Amino acid sequence: MDFRTVADAVAADIASGRLRPGDRLPTQRDFARAHGIANSTATRVYAELTRRGLVVGEVGRGTYVRAATPRPFALAEPTTAAVDLELSVPAVPEQFPLLADGMSRMLRPDVLRDALRPVGAAGTPEAREAAAGVLARAGWAPEPDRVLFTGTGRQALAAAVAALVPPGGRLGVEDLTYPAARAIATRVGATLVPLGMDTEGLRPDALAEAHRSARLHAVYVQPTLHNPLSVTLPYQRRLELAQVTGTLGIPIIEDAVWSHLATDPGPPLAAFAPHHTVLIDSLSKRVAPGLTLGFAVAPASGADAVAHAIRSGAWTAPRFALETALGWMRDGTVRSIEAAKRTDARARQAAVADLLAGFRIRTAPEASMCWWDLPEPWRADTFVAAAARRGIAVTPGAAFAVRATAAPNAVRLGLASPPPDVLARAVATLAALARSAPDDEAIG
Ligand SMILES: Cc1ncc(COP(=O)(O)O)c(C=O)c1O
Repeated sequence: MDFRTVADAVAADIASGRLRPGDRLPTQRDFARAHGIANSTATRVYAELTRRGLVVGEVGRGTYVRAATPRPFALAEPTTAAVDLELSVPAVPEQFPLLADGMSRMLRPDVLRDALRPVGAAGTPEAREAAAGVLARAGWAPEPDRVLFTGTGRQALAAAVAALVPPGGRLGVEDLTYPAARAIATRVGATLVPLGMDTEGLRPDALAEAHRSARLHAVYVQPTLHNPLSVTLPYQRRLELAQVTGTLGIPIIEDAVWSHLATDPGPPLAAFAPHHTVLIDSLSKRVAPGLTLGFAVAPASGADAVAHAIRSGAWTAPRFALETALGWMRDGTVRSIEAAKRTDARARQAAVADLLAGFRIRTAPEASMCWWDLPEPWRADTFVAAAARRGIAVTPGAAFAVRATAAPNAVRLGLASPPPDVLARAVATLAALARSAPDDEAIG
């Protein structure tokens, strides 16, 4: 029997309510026996149900029917709150004249004629060369011919996951991670496997252990200025991760979207594990999310699969963005905006460190965000609601948690979006709120 037919029957049971959210499905072996199908077919049925978002699997805990509407992923959209500490969108005033200069080159009819034509995942030789230059950092310089282009970093991530993880396959992720990464990976059919972290970031032993229980098809990591904790993996840890993944044959998807903010980001995992790492990055934080470009630097062995995923997912970059960004990358605009943003991030962090002195925060001097373990008796949800009443949008820690059962009692503050004086006032308001009693809040 075709696995899709069996999956359709289970889907119908879920739709009719015969199977309810939270119900545990039998083991694949029992399921196979009950339906008179091969074990391998049962595996495909479970993978298909996962891909459709109808069930979730948790390592060692079995497969469960998902809530009718999947748990909201708290994917932030630009908010209407007076002060947005939810999205962290760095922008420095000096970037706009620089960007405008570069864009004025685009306005010639002959330039536009080329810039409005279609382009493939590999972009153009000029764009590959320029992107390799912008992505290069101490200890690593990508081969221009390894660079692929997408519309955004998230699209590069989607393509990397789609290329490496089959539907229902297992993707290891840090147990607190970037919410969109979680949503994207789930959407392309991956089963997320949360991996433990410590103060240095992802633990190689957690990775190896998860792989022992069942194969990990890939691991998604943010080694530098991790969102949301701002941890940076030390050199030794990078080396260990490269070795462990190399030995176990687990490809790495390295998210370097925030790494430009680090003055000395160190070599990426791609430098330690060049044959099994797909590095993704973008211009949305470096430059601006409204006119951006995503990058995937794939090893020779995986380049075709990633390029194919970019095409089949319709994630290729618009040529206009590619050509505009090419100018910005070539003439040094990107590099100088990055430098200005590093200075800006440091100043914001210094101000926030003062305002939140005495609280438990996790961040880095150049990070664009700050993780705040709330003082007792505050609960993250109550705090988020109280902040919202003051016109300040912050993200609850649960939005980043991959384990459904773990909701950290913390909030993440994105520091980059408001002007510095507005940021300072908002953080002072939040500090006063955290010092007050939640009960006063309920009464007031
Ligand atoms: C860790 C991480 N990766 C990727 C992205 C998204 O990049 P892009 O805006 O280019 O899709 C973000 C944006 O917040 C991020 O925090």
